Amino acid sequence: MRPLPIPGIALGCDYNPEQWSPDVWREDVTLMRSLGVDLVAINVFGWSEVEPRPGEYDFKRLDSVIELLHQHEIRINLGTATASPPPWLTARHPEVLPVAADGTTRHPGGRQAYCPSSPIFRERSLALVEQIAQRYGRHPAVALWHVSNELGCHNALCYCPASAEAFRGWLRDRYGTIAALNEAWGTAFWSQRYGDWTEVGPPLAVLSLRNPAQALDFQRFSSDQVLEQYRSEVAVLRAYTDVPITTNLMVTAHIRNLNYWSWAPHLDVVANDHYLDHRLADPAAELSFAADLTRGLASGRSWMLMEQAAGAVNWQPHNLAKDPGELLRNTLAHVARGADAICFFQWRASAQGAEKFHSALLPHAGTDTTAWREAMELSAVLDRIGEVAGTTVEADTAVLFSWESWWAAEGDGRPSEAVHYLDQVHHSYRALRELGITADVVAPEADLTRYRLVVIPCHYLVTDAQAAAVRRYVEGGGHVVVTFFSGIADEHDRIRLGGYPGAFRDVLGIVGEELRPLLPDAAVALDDGDHGRLWTERLRAAGADVVRRFADGPLAGGPAVTRNRYGSGLAWYVATQLTPDGMRRLVGDAADRAGVRPVAPENDGTLEAVRRRDGRRSYLFVINHGPHEAELAAHGQDLLTGEPVTGRLRVRGGGVRVLREEPTP
Ligand code: GLA
Repeated sequence: MRPLPIPGIALGCDYNPEQWSPDVWREDVTLMRSLGVDLVAINVFGWSEVEPRPGEYDFKRLDSVIELLHQHEIRINLGTATASPPPWLTARHPEVLPVAADGTTRHPGGRQAYCPSSPIFRERSLALVEQIAQRYGRHPAVALWHVSNELGCHNALCYCPASAEAFRGWLRDRYGTIAALNEAWGTAFWSQRYGDWTEVGPPLAVLSLRNPAQALDFQRFSSDQVLEQYRSEVAVLRAYTDVPITTNLMVTAHIRNLNYWSWAPHLDVVANDHYLDHRLADPAAELSFAADLTRGLASGRSWMLMEQAAGAVNWQPHNLAKDPGELLRNTLAHVARGADAICFFQWRASAQGAEKFHSALLPHAGTDTTAWREAMELSAVLDRIGEVAGTTVEADTAVLFSWESWWAAEGDGRPSEAVHYLDQVHHSYRALRELGITADVVAPEADLTRYRLVVIPCHYLVTDAQAAAVRRYVEGGGHVVVTFFSGIADEHDRIRLGGYPGAFRDVLGIVGEELRPLLPDAAVALDDGDHGRLWTERLRAAGADVVRRFADGPLAGGPAVTRNRYGSGLAWYVATQLTPDGMRRLVGDAADRAGVRPVAPENDGTLEAVRRRDGRRSYLFVINHGPHEAELAAHGQDLLTGEPVTGRLRVRGGGVRVLREEPTP
């Protein structure tokens, strides 16, 4: 990983000059200067312009845009232009097009209409990257390379013949022999035993349930294949440039096909795209989670927000504009959680195309608008807080996150379709956030020893090494809260036998006999007055204390929450989905016992406080999403207003404060 290419907290945006004439470009750069834009992503969707016909390159317009930005001292985040193939490529080579699980082809006319395993796509895209790298690899305005765009957003899973061939190659590398594959996939079941590699393929649509191990490996393969496109482009770029290279990840609630833990080591800079998702119950809490996970991908170091929206998006069923102050609150939530660059999709709102109703820094109505004034205000705020750049977020708690568990826990034939991995992660995370606790979101292989408390939600698929790491951590004094449907299967999605949750049974001091999910609208009473939903288990304590019991239904009197002393640590198990209040109480109890130090007072989720430090300096970000004034103890100077704060920090409803902290006198 390398430092971000712009000092301070950079302001940036996507810019699509292809959509505009040169006189508009000149107005754009002047306005970019007045807004204080530092970094502009261009040529992201440029392929059909820079290579209008196969092998015929035309860089006239791109040259002019680059020179114009350079003259105005605006740095460039240069796209490799491979995000979407031009019509000539898919018309000449329809075999490049992606195929869905039902065997039907997805056509051009949208974007990203290519198979990630297509040799033709790879060849043509790399030829283009080579041209671009040769031409601009040493250009002084280029501060960063932007490979493709949101790789795998639409096309991660392709089932075409080229994908099938690549999948077989991937499986051979993984398993070596067909016998090992049969073993791993459990093909003795339903007469699925393979005699030869040629019989193996991707998990196409079937009449019944699919083989979950096959589907899981296909997810792994697909993530690797999309990453391979990234790595291939990087390899070409590296021959011509020393500038950092990245791509924009999609750590967000609706994209799940890419295992970014395996991507992160290949990125010079971790960059994420994040849009508030109004389909969720608490979009601001999801933003915090996504930002913490992005920081996890950056191993705790600074990262960049490569895209967010100044106002509404255009791809949700109901595209809500931002409320007054919301842009500032969202932005500072990202910065508080480690973002040192804030970029937007996009600079100027499009007049045509599928995204013409998507907001931009410069709206259709121009600069005499509230949106523009808010953008100007935001830019001034980013300048005022520039000194926080490079500091790291302080967290003594972690949430364990696993894309493999996400995939496997939602495989065919599971106990309940109502149990969604990400919902369960959000449920745990929300309790921490409402307790005012800052959490790192970490990989299942992460070193846990620096945390006082680790929450392990719905971690269904657990390798032996991961189980051993959790065991060692608790043995050495760590505290964990494990929630239901964790520790069930090994890396091949094979059940760990002998009682649930096999991977954590000893640490938790319990034996689960039977998984008993509930119907979606059912609830079960607990003996502390709370109730559980979605899930119950017939459990028996095998060393653990029973903290809460089921109070009605067939499991009445049986354990619902347990706590086990293991080595010098403490391990909690939660066998149902507690209410948000119940979960907050439980996690609060676990956090107290672990000695966790919250940053904000307990609240209903509307008050966020996060601390960034670098040893000498310490900054407190406070964001009040609620309508009422909030108060907390603090000392220092407000970077936004210059005011001193001595003892009590007040934050008006909807307001934000950023404090350079001083030690309490
Ligand atoms: C993604 C893409 C952009 C644009 C935005 C719209 O982030 O990278 O090209 O489509 O979504 O929200």
